[in-house]
Amino acid sequence: MPSVCFVCLGNICRSPMAQAVFEHLLAERGLDDHWSVDSAGTGGWHIGEPPDPRTLAVLRRHGISTDQVARGLQASDFTAFDHLLAMDEDNLRHLQDRAPDGCSAEINLLGDYHPDGRCEVPDPYYGGPDGFDKVYAMVAAACGGFIDAYANRV
Ligand code: 4NP
Repeated sequence: MPSVCFVCLGNICRSPMAQAVFEHLLAERGLDDHWSVDSAGTGGWHIGEPPDPRTLAVLRRHGISTDQVARGLQASDFTAFDHLLAMDEDNLRHLQDRAPDGCSAEINLLGDYHPDGRCEVPDPYYGGPDGFDKVYAMVAAACGGFIDAYANRV
């Protein structure tokens, strides 16, 4: 079963949104039983917390719900998942720096799959609610690109 873990800093804004959007896209295509999907944060401040209310609000506006609980990235994630998809270049560097010997996951930016070309999904935490709408649009487009790239491999 193909597997993907979305990775950001806190695992309360961007990566749980990407996880929920990707699961939603899979369900629309009848593929939700065929993928293992998760998310994680490189920082530990919010472990055990639900997603940020602004992430939950934008997801709700798009008819998507999530029961994700924030967790920290684990060494085992580098072998448990086929794909680790970072939201920004800092997250990407963190993953590349910590990839252990024997890492089997492909490490990329989620934005590598954006139809308009490679982009970072910016951290919306200290900004206003419109930042979360921008994150949603980028995440939805890039998750669509990722699913198109891999749907045929299921
Ligand atoms: P995320 O956003 O990485 O998209 O979950 C953030 C959440 C919390 C913090 C930073 C970014 N923080 O500094 O607590």
